[in-house]
Amino acid sequence: MNTENTRILKGDICYSTDKDTLITVENGYLVCENGISAGVFQKLPEAYMGLFVEDFTGHLIIPGLTDLHMHAPQYAFRGFKMDLELLDWLNSSAFPEEARYEDEEYARAAYSIFVNDLRKSGTTRGCFFATLHLPATEILMELLEESGLETMVGKVNMDRNCPDYLREKDAETSAALTLSWLERTAGKFQHTKPILTPRFIPACSDELMRRLADIQKSYGLPVQSHLSENPGEIAWVQELVPQSRFYGDAYDLFGLFGGDVPTIMAHCVHCLPEEMDLMEQRGVYIAHCPQSNANLTSGAAPVRAFLDRNMKVGLGSDIAGGTVLSIFRAMAESIQVSKLRARLTGDGLKPLSMQEAFFLGTKGGGSFFGNAGSFEAGYQCDALVLDESRIPHPQKLTLAERLERYIYLSGDDWILHKYVQGRKLF
Ligand code: GUN
Ligand code: FE
Repeated sequence: MNTENTRILKGDICYSTDKDTLITVENGYLVCENGISAGVFQKLPEAYMGLFVEDFTGHLIIPGLTDLHMHAPQYAFRGFKMDLELLDWLNSSAFPEEARYEDEEYARAAYSIFVNDLRKSGTTRGCFFATLHLPATEILMELLEESGLETMVGKVNMDRNCPDYLREKDAETSAALTLSWLERTAGKFQHTKPILTPRFIPACSDELMRRLADIQKSYGLPVQSHLSENPGEIAWVQELVPQSRFYGDAYDLFGLFGGDVPTIMAHCVHCLPEEMDLMEQRGVYIAHCPQSNANLTSGAAPVRAFLDRNMKVGLGSDIAGGTVLSIFRAMAESIQVSKLRARLTGDGLKPLSMQEAFFLGTKGGGSFFGNAGSFEAGYQCDALVLDESRIPHPQKLTLAERLERYIYLSGDDWILHKYVQGRKLF
């Protein structure tokens, strides 16, 4: 044991071991060695006696949160023009805003605002879409690296069905730009990794998908995209890729749908049973984005069915389909949306519980990064120390009650301290 690199946090500790199990340890100790958890203890083990303890007695300590899906360039216009469905919203809002990132000065200004807010939030890890622009994407990566967060960033690929001002000339150009981006950023960052990002099937030609699959293989990159978000979009994919059996199959035909390729698909609101079978088989991650799905009238994803199948699920803010960065809020909304869905469809899928939503926002999404999102021994020490002094209560509450209240009140502004891999950000 190297005592210099040992960090001990004392407080009211909550973490998930699986979707049904919330561990709570009042006045416990979280021990981190070299950024890795050595475990949570009710009594400090002999070996650590005498070492400095960061004493947060009375405060909740929870794992850092993971935002599995968001669009960094859309942060500046969150909350505008929300009365449209996906395809109209993309054309009228998302695409014109993303086009601004051709301007490096605008990109730096806007991305600085985003990263500054993200750093203060409960999010310690995230997978982000940038735009198709190389310089702006590199600026985002630089800012995220400086922030100390653990992230994956994707230069977006899009070579069809987009306005001229935001479309790569052809598949060859899009692939060449991707290679150039990978080469320019190779080895430059420690905490900011590239992730291959075909925007979605409507915006990517077959030829582009083939070329991206080659790039994926040679660089061993993870992949992020969108799946089965909106009925109009799904019908369009069937026309564009007529040989596909369902939307997910249109990715699978090109070898970009899980298996050896770590893959995140955002939304999955309207997945067919065959589609879920394939995702389950291939270990495809679902980024559930309840707020975006409500804002863009996309629907309510059957998260209970995903969990019953033991599929891999995390939460996403999907800014600017979603309007707030808070993954606490995404937890609460995942429960609320599941309750509405249960009542309105009557399909027998039980609403999510607080424990399940907490799991989704911590270990569920965190596991895309390996051992992250929990305090079990061997996990990365990403931790939040929460301040409840603004929400005093006349009774003594249990840790689970306090956690539930914090989730429903979405206390991103009340975070006292934040650690990523044992590094203290504030
Ligand atoms: N599908 C393709 N692009 C987008 C996007 O920017 N946001 C959302 N919500 N869905 C998409
Ligand atoms: Fe999205």
